[in-house]
Amino acid sequence: NHLFKLLCGVVAALALTQVAAAAELRERALGMFSPLPSTFPALKDNVITGEKIELGKALFFDPRMSASGVFSCNSCHNLATGGDDNMETSIGHAWQKGPRNSPTVLNAVFNEAQFWDGRAADLAEQAKGPVQAGVEMANTPANVVATLTSMPQYVAWFEEAFPEEKNPVSFDNFAKAIEAYEATLITPAPFDAWLNGDDGALTGDQLAGLELFMNKGCSACHNGVNLGGNGYFPFGLIEKPGADVLPPDDRGRFAVTKTADDSYVFRASPLRNIDQTAPYFHSGKVWDLKVAVQIMGTSQLGTEINDQQADQIVAFLTALTGKVPEVVYPVLPRETSQTPRPSG
Ligand code: HEM
Ligand code: HEM
Repeated sequence: NHLFKLLCGVVAALALTQVAAAAELRERALGMFSPLPSTFPALKDNVITGEKIELGKALFFDPRMSASGVFSCNSCHNLATGGDDNMETSIGHAWQKGPRNSPTVLNAVFNEAQFWDGRAADLAEQAKGPVQAGVEMANTPANVVATLTSMPQYVAWFEEAFPEEKNPVSFDNFAKAIEAYEATLITPAPFDAWLNGDDGALTGDQLAGLELFMNKGCSACHNGVNLGGNGYFPFGLIEKPGADVLPPDDRGRFAVTKTADDSYVFRASPLRNIDQTAPYFHSGKVWDLKVAVQIMGTSQLGTEINDQQADQIVAFLTALTGKVPEVVYPVLPRETSQTPRPSG
């Protein structure tokens, strides 16, 4: 009987220690990461309305926004495959291979800076880029507006989405509507449930991976709500990866700031849904997440991450994969005789 009580006591004490350890880990984690908010984030100078979201969604899926009529945003940010295109680097206008890997649009609204080199400030500014980029959609703002204006259904949708405006069909509003739609592409994951207090949301391996992620120093660069997307660092801070992973011709942020210090500086990638978005790095040269994790160990931290540790970190990273909002494929406005014809 005594022995039984003693045993019960020991078990209870152990359980208490475990509870305390879990609480301590959560507290540390909350100091570095934040769960996704439960509502859509507010956008700068862009009130989110249902009408704007629906319009933005149509635009996101509409290939006629490209000069050729072939590429929509969804071509390279496919919402059925993690919000990216699963290619090393994207294929765009006239079958051209672009210079970089396409990042996911899922949760992109939480990135403080857009693109691998942070050259766009927000999603509205960002959306104007691909439409005009020669290797992406190769279109012009004037041709986008002409295309939209030629379809009465689009004109009506722009009027509903931008009711106070004299000239609702504009390239600026095109970008704002897409930004509003992108703000809905948020994917709550088991890690959010765990941060919010659900102890059972992560497995033992995932918790061990989280501890490693913090103890090894990954979270020094990959932190905040998207575990990245908020700061710039040299890729190869400690040891430059080989040209097979880091091709010498793309010097990253250097092209934006023209300062030598920014040579090979890239944005620390956001890591939500990372197990859905191979291949990895701006070059898209690494297909295996475990290999990408081990490269980060040597290139950014100067430390070997052994097999077991890498497996646990990968297990943790899979806990960042969330539920993609259900997307009902939109029926798009019908063209008219006025609609500019596909070119190139
Ligand atoms: C980057 C949205 C069309 C390929 C991005 C980002 C967003 C985005 C939000 C930044 C993500 C981040 O930094 O985490 C859009 C929208 C499009 C569109 C709204 C339609 C208007 C395309 C197309 C392609 C493409 C058609 C491929 C041909 C890429 C690539 C990047 C990128 C390669 C990375 C560029 C870099 O960092 O230099 N896009 N995209 N996008 N997108 Fe798109
Ligand atoms: C990219 C994980 C440490 C800065 C990445 C990627 C992963 C990752 C999986 C690829 C993302 C993608 O392709 O979308 C990790 C892990 C780390 C770690 C597990 C700890 C072992 C760090 C540290 C820094 C850093 C300490 C900053 C000093 C970056 C940068 C990129 C990146 C700049 C983008 C590289 C590129 O240009 O392609 N990280 N990371 N990471 N990480 Fe880390």
